[in-house]
Amino acid sequence: MSNTEINDLKREVAALRDELHRTRQQADTSYYFSADAEHDLSGEAHMPDAGLPAKTVKTLIENAHSLDFDQKLNTSSYVNVSFEPEEEEVALMGLQVNLADQTVYPKSYAIHDSVVNMIATLWNCPKPDDFDEYGVYPGAGTVGSTEACLLAGLALKFRWRAWYQKLHGLSDDEVRAIRPNVVISTCYQAAWEKLFKYLDIEPRLVAPSRDTFKVDPEGVREAIDDKTMGVVCIMGNHYGGQYDPVWDVDKVVTDVNSANGWQVGIHVDAASGGFIAPFQDDLPAWDFRLPNVLSISSSGHKYGESCCGTGWVVWRERRDLSEHVAISVTYLGGKADSYTLNFSRPASGVYVQFYKLLRFGMAGYRQCEENMMRNATFLRDGLRAMEHNGKARFVLLDDGDEHCLPVVTAMLNPDAGFTYDDIDLQHVLSQHHWYVSGYKMNYLHPISEDTLPLFHDAEADQSMFRIVVKGNLTRDMAEDLLESFNAALSFLDSVDFSALHGVSTKDMRHKDQRIVSNHC
Ligand SMILES: Cc1ncc(COP(=O)(O)O)c(C=O)c1O
Repeated sequence: MSNTEINDLKREVAALRDELHRTRQQADTSYYFSADAEHDLSGEAHMPDAGLPAKTVKTLIENAHSLDFDQKLNTSSYVNVSFEPEEEEVALMGLQVNLADQTVYPKSYAIHDSVVNMIATLWNCPKPDDFDEYGVYPGAGTVGSTEACLLAGLALKFRWRAWYQKLHGLSDDEVRAIRPNVVISTCYQAAWEKLFKYLDIEPRLVAPSRDTFKVDPEGVREAIDDKTMGVVCIMGNHYGGQYDPVWDVDKVVTDVNSANGWQVGIHVDAASGGFIAPFQDDLPAWDFRLPNVLSISSSGHKYGESCCGTGWVVWRERRDLSEHVAISVTYLGGKADSYTLNFSRPASGVYVQFYKLLRFGMAGYRQCEENMMRNATFLRDGLRAMEHNGKARFVLLDDGDEHCLPVVTAMLNPDAGFTYDDIDLQHVLSQHHWYVSGYKMNYLHPISEDTLPLFHDAEADQSMFRIVVKGNLTRDMAEDLLESFNAALSFLDSVDFSALHGVSTKDMRHKDQRIVSNHC
């Protein structure tokens, strides 16, 4: 074949491809009648040569979505899933705004700052001296608690380094070679694993008792030394929703600092509790009212009721704290700090957070908290009442009806002689459309990767499960969940699971556990 013929053929193929592209893009037929329906388009490793019709692409995504668990029946995750139509419109509007462009979107950024201010005052942050200069408390909207925890950790690291360098008269290189530590409960969420690994920080882990899930302040006292850049208290661990006693840890930190001339501070990881604890009466001070609390973070997308991908961090002050992670930005003649790990992000989370703060107000958040706590009590009472051969089916492990997150955590009663475990229960419950995650009482050490017991007084192999009660869980849904428990348990009782719990299934379930225990 001559070169001219080859070139002609190439042109014909290109024209056919363009034609196919145009036809596909313009086609408005239902995906199911189209020629594309017989191909696994999402399984392809490469972009298709020709573009697909909008309907086809949307259908593909809808199909994938419908194969997921229903987010409203996912009691494993803390993420808010209910939105008013106006809120969805606001979120869509925010998708087109890049918050990094502060000069182009100054009003959107002002909304961000206003949210930071509302949250800082919700957490009783003292007004910083430089408030008038900046017009905003030192803080930032982030993509979630993880980014917020990483930023708070970075600020603590640089603060500690400056202090330690001065104390020992070290050079920059000498102090950089020294690895600081963070004291935290073993019930930490995977966000902190990122901090230990990415920022090269030693985890000083304090294992709580299974009876409380709360860090022991005396254990914290023993773990602190002069390389401790901070103590992290968790206001609502993701396993059981219990609050670490920040108020007692604060006293310990004051003692340790005054006895040794140190300056250890506390970060409160209030990923879930940040929008629950402020609405619970008679709870001891846990926030900036405590003198050693230097920063607090929370997920806007959990009980903050914003949409997925929203987090907040607030620092007590800029001086020798948030300034360590600030990148100064000048815009429209004003002065601003950028704290986030990356610049670009959609404004949706900030818009929806602002919407929710104004729409609910203090009274709305309080009402929501009360509803969720009451629904948690309803579920807890329901599980407590379930018996098998005269024995309680479950041992309740959460903190009860107040001063904790609206979470119900339990385990199958080890004395009831069941052949199945909590992870089998999770799988059978899923047949009733409910996702209730079961997991083992162990964690992977972030550095050694050894599997270790989560609690100092419980077997690492013991399982448990949790039900996170969110705003979308109405009482009739809670009733259905209890009925589903009953149906699942009668099925489980009728089968002997002993053989299933051999070595291979145990390994398999161990894999499951690694995934579910990181749920947020
Ligand atoms: C205590 C705690 N910290 C941090 C996180 C991470 O939150 P995010 O998913 O918003 O990054 C979670 C999530 O569940 C959590 O419970």
